[in-house]
Amino acid sequence: MGRTLVIVKPDAVERGLVGEILGRLERKGLALAAAELRTLDADTLARHYSEHVGKGFYEDLVAFMSRGPALVAVLEGPRETWRTVRDLMGTTDPAAAAPGTIRGDLGIDLTENLIHGSDSEASAEREIGIFFPGPPD
Ligand code: RTP
Ligand code: MG
Repeated sequence: MGRTLVIVKPDAVERGLVGEILGRLERKGLALAAAELRTLDADTLARHYSEHVGKGFYEDLVAFMSRGPALVAVLEGPRETWRTVRDLMGTTDPAAAAPGTIRGDLGIDLTENLIHGSDSEASAEREIGIFFPGPPD
């Protein structure tokens, strides 16, 4: 069994796309293990996006990610769940993401790209620990 962290980003919540996005993950066969609507603060985002702190786009990223509620969730599946979610998301820039993916079908803006998914098994463990600390269920 594998777990990964998903964030349905504030743009998707604003646009009423939470059900559409979670529905795609669920229809694939992944299960929700935890989910909560939260407005993320700058400190939490600095931990979560630590590899991007100081980059040119970082301030815009934090302003975007903290401007309203996001749906923070843990998804579960039989194998490499993080990879399954990344495949369903599409590449970072929605303008270039393949049709059939979440970003490819629903977005056009590089910053406001609807969904976060952990990019490795190690990232998934680290990120789940940030947003859902405590012993696993
Ligand atoms: P994420 O971490 O959110 O799942 O996205 P990702 O792996 O596909 O992309 P990453 O390189 O980790 O970038 C994190 C998020 O920062 C925003 N971004 N803006 N304006 C820009 O040049 C730029 N580049 C990245 C996006 O919201 C991206 O998802
Ligand atoms: Mg990333």
